[in-house]
Amino acid sequence: TPRVVVLISGSGSNLQALIDAQSYDELGGEIVAVISNKADAYGLKRARDAGIEAVALPHREYDSREAFDGALIKVIERHEPDLVVLAGFMRILTPRFVQRFYGRMLNIHPSLLPAYQGLHTHARALADGVSEHGVSVHFVSEELDGGPVVVQAAVDVTPEDTEDSLQQKVQSREHLIYPIAVRWFLEGRLTLGAQGPTLDGTPLPPQGLR
Ligand code: GAR
Repeated sequence: TPRVVVLISGSGSNLQALIDAQSYDELGGEIVAVISNKADAYGLKRARDAGIEAVALPHREYDSREAFDGALIKVIERHEPDLVVLAGFMRILTPRFVQRFYGRMLNIHPSLLPAYQGLHTHARALADGVSEHGVSVHFVSEELDGGPVVVQAAVDVTPEDTEDSLQQKVQSREHLIYPIAVRWFLEGRLTLGAQGPTLDGTPLPPQGLR
């Protein structure tokens, strides 16, 4: 069975979607560990409740980003994952870390990339008055929120929307598309080649599947 390590920093609602998919035999693999850089992340409890090893690795206990990432690499590699899944992991990764897991590390970002890289995506989309917003799953590259996109889901932005309502709409889509992308990877259907991501051998469009 393919092995998955999930990195989180907070609530872990995307982690929960992956745990649920696994419980229905729809993940294509097994989550073998969940690691958080915050010891009080609620997602660690979700992991323990599901019988998954939960590891807290507080980044503040390390002198530098390099030292933290080095420790993180060690913990991850102990679990011999086929795939590393970033699910609300709010740390910028060093090039060494990204290179180590290149082509086998996915992230979910709450915008229709390449729009709104970085933080506060919902507030910025609202402020711009866009009519469409959403979420992207992408392979992680050294460019922050800039790696090749695999799949996106869009939501309509209405005049009534607030930052909260938009976040809720987008998150409901996150929970749908992340388990699907993970499954594609674990079943060997999704790979990152020299020309970009392919699904079943067919190159994906620049902004992924919608
Ligand atoms: C998710 O909405 C995810 O898209 C976002 O953090 C949230 C984590 O929620 N990720 C980023 O902003 C990455 N820069 P969760 O802990 O409930 O899954």
